[in-house]
Amino acid sequence: MKKLNYLMAVMLAAALFGFSSSANAQLANHDLSTGTQSPCVGCHTPHESVSSLIPLWNHETTTGPFTMYSSDTLDGAIAGSPQGSSLACLSCHDGTVGVDNFGGTTGTAVMGGGTEGGKVIGTNLTNDHPISLTFDNGADAALQLIGAVQASSLVLFGAGNDQVECATCHNVHEKLSATGNKYLRIAGSTLCGTCHTQ
Ligand code: HEC
Ligand code: HEC
Ligand code: HEC
Ligand code: HEC
Repeated sequence: MKKLNYLMAVMLAAALFGFSSSANAQLANHDLSTGTQSPCVGCHTPHESVSSLIPLWNHETTTGPFTMYSSDTLDGAIAGSPQGSSLACLSCHDGTVGVDNFGGTTGTAVMGGGTEGGKVIGTNLTNDHPISLTFDNGADAALQLIGAVQASSLVLFGAGNDQVECATCHNVHEKLSATGNKYLRIAGSTLCGTCHTQ
């Protein structure tokens, strides 16, 4: 509950101090606010959250259906459908739900016209890095041990703190630099080696 209180406090501060009146540089493309709205409004609301998918979720949730990644050489288990925060990302990035479909408004501005590629990940996840994937610690010599990953700037999810989701590699709240870097938590050049040994 501590984190939720923090979120509310930040959003309240934003509303009180007019932080919302100009575009939020850190959120960049993820600031979908207009007028006096909080910059967080595309994803979070202080009241009447639509579900507990992520803290104070404010956006229509995608129903897919998704085709998950699979391969014969995978040791870790993949959930049958995208979990938690990944489902939140896909609620805009799968190209089936309007980006502007939040806060009780039925928006229709579907990202990229639903065509996979670029910013649209689509509902076919077989050609994307596996997500909703449980780290199989120690089973695979080609993977770092989970303790090293947990100690890095990457974030693992789930009750066991061992699941890879979109927000493991990306932090939508903060761009690494003003020039972009796709909201990655670690620059692309060293990202893969944080978890893989090859
Ligand atoms: C594009 C969607 C999006 C926007 C915009 C957004 N968030 Fe989030 N937020 C998320 C997702 C997804 C999570 C859960 C995954 C994570 O923790 O990274 C989250 C989690 C959080 C959490 C909980 C973090 C934790 O460690 O449990 C806080 C606090 C938060 N957001 C605050 C904010 C504030 C304040 C703003 C506006 C300045 C904001 N967010 C804007 C998507 C968003
Ligand atoms: C409320 C809608 C929404 C949600 C939810 C959302 N995004 Fe986005 N995202 C956008 C929009 C809009 C853009 C800009 C698209 C464009 O430029 O055409 C974007 C762009 C991006 C980019 C590209 C940034 C760049 O500089 O090229 C990345 C990476 C990204 N999002 C990752 C995520 C991840 C990861 C999540 C979940 C943690 C997420 N997004 C959740 C709306 C969303
Ligand atoms: C294992 C790490 C990892 C995971 C997990 C991951 N991404 Fe990414 N993502 C990246 C990297 C690295 C890039 C940058 C690729 C590049 O610059 O060519 C990227 C790029 C993107 C882009 C920008 C594409 C473009 O052409 O601008 C979007 C949007 C995006 N990711 C969304 C997501 C979403 C949504 C998920 C979950 C379904 C996700 N990512 C899961 C590492 C990851
Ligand atoms: C947060 C940790 C993490 C990061 C960062 C990461 N991966 Fe992974 N990756 C994994 C895990 C865990 C698996 C599943 C391995 C297994 O169980 O066999 C995996 C699987 C894969 C697979 C599929 C292997 C198979 O057998 O099908 C490929 C390919 C891959 N990763 C490439 C990359 C690349 C390229 C990057 C950098 C852009 C990257 N990974 C970043 C954790 C990560």
